[in-house]
Amino acid sequence: MNVGWRWCLRGFAILDTNANAINKELIMRVLVIGSGGREHALVWKLSQSSGVDRLYCAPGNAGIGETAQTVDIPPDKVSHLLQFAKSEKVDLTVVGPELPLTLGIVDRFEKAGLKIFGVNSQAAQLEGSKAFAKRLMQESRIPTAPFVVFNDMKQALRYLDLKGAPCVIKADGLAAGKGVTVAQTREEAEKAIVEAMKEEIFGDAGKTIIIEECLQGEELSMMALVDGNTVFPLALCQDHKALQDGDRGPNTGGMGAYSPVTHFGGELESEIVDTVLRPVVRALRKRGIAYRGVLYAGLMVCGGRPTVLEFNVRFGDPEAQPLLARYTGDLLLTLEAVVDQRLACIESQWDSRAAVCVVLTASGYPGSVRSGDIIQGLDSLKAFKDVMVFHAGTERKGDQVVTKGGRVLGVTALGETFPKAVERAYEAVGKIRWEGMHYRKDIGHRAVRKAA
Ligand SMILES: Nc1ncnc2c1ncn2[C@@H]1O[C@H](COP(=O)(O)OP(=O)(O)O)[C@@H](O)[C@H]1O
Ligand SMILES: [Mg+2]
Repeated sequence: MNVGWRWCLRGFAILDTNANAINKELIMRVLVIGSGGREHALVWKLSQSSGVDRLYCAPGNAGIGETAQTVDIPPDKVSHLLQFAKSEKVDLTVVGPELPLTLGIVDRFEKAGLKIFGVNSQAAQLEGSKAFAKRLMQESRIPTAPFVVFNDMKQALRYLDLKGAPCVIKADGLAAGKGVTVAQTREEAEKAIVEAMKEEIFGDAGKTIIIEECLQGEELSMMALVDGNTVFPLALCQDHKALQDGDRGPNTGGMGAYSPVTHFGGELESEIVDTVLRPVVRALRKRGIAYRGVLYAGLMVCGGRPTVLEFNVRFGDPEAQPLLARYTGDLLLTLEAVVDQRLACIESQWDSRAAVCVVLTASGYPGSVRSGDIIQGLDSLKAFKDVMVFHAGTERKGDQVVTKGGRVLGVTALGETFPKAVERAYEAVGKIRWEGMHYRKDIGHRAVRKAA
């Protein structure tokens, strides 16, 4: 990248300084918040930016610790994180997970005059309250399933009697990916309503619920960066939520993902931007809410048309792993441009190859998991070309890496074609083992079928 281009990206304040001063200006201390595969991919990509001087990650994991200095502060300890960023003179903080965003970390950092990448607490309602998101969509005619919001269980059950099954019951608030039941029978739906509203299994997050129409179709997600005005579309992704091959078994945080998704044809991407992403940013702006950060639309393609299932306000995980593996732009400059509202200056740059991420999970996942199993084979993968092993639930114990959590690793591979990326990813997966390790053998199956 030439210096003139950098000037455009960084604004004109440094235009008349000499080259050394520019270099000094470009050297930054960056803090990434989170500890999953998504954050490892962010750290990995940020470490390739020439402008990054020191990279911290709170709390990070064993893999992240090889590239960034890990800091033992959990993502929900906003005051501690702020204190750390101040004392270490962090120039930019990048927030991975949703919880600190809904807790208002961006508002706190900005008030203290610190630069931070992520949405503020008002914008975070788009993920933090499904009722808020659904009403916003309804008001701004963004395609989504018909729905009714309930605060009272008796009324919800009466509505269920009227409507019957199948239907979808959703807890309003954050429920770690467990708050949605796609009910095929009335009994299942009733159970979900009672568990959320009477037994309060999701705490306050389930006191309000949504009952919505069950949609049929193929799921897809699209992420974009938004700087308040400009929508910078990222590539389409598909993830695999079910635990077992053939989309069977319980839902998980995600067993794998791939990008790009080409089998719907080229029109779909611009249709999503025009009918979903831009309208939601506009609708929020009308309410006085500036959206700066990642906008993630979870979609169902019904009869060729994108319909919104939900919005997230951060990178999807595992989707971020294949996505960032393909991003060839400078991530630091791109994220900074979001914060500084200069996204219109950034060129979208992608590796034309396909990327596939296979998630490896620990024994017991998605239920209660066993931790502390020794992971073998990681070193042998360092020599693998175009394979990135992103860590999630891992921890270093002496000279060994052990499991610590449900989703343990995301093995991400690039390939000239989808089948090649899939083959490379599984070849790498074959080198790794620990007791109780599980993974799906059919990640990318739809894209592979279409590529055949
Ligand atoms: N209206 C719907 N019709 C059919 N399936 C749905 C519907 N809404 C959600 N789902 C299914 O439930 C999953 C989780 O729902 P989502 O709204 O994405 O919530 P979360 O990710 O917060 O759990 C979706 O990925 C999809 O498989
Ligand atoms: Mg979802």
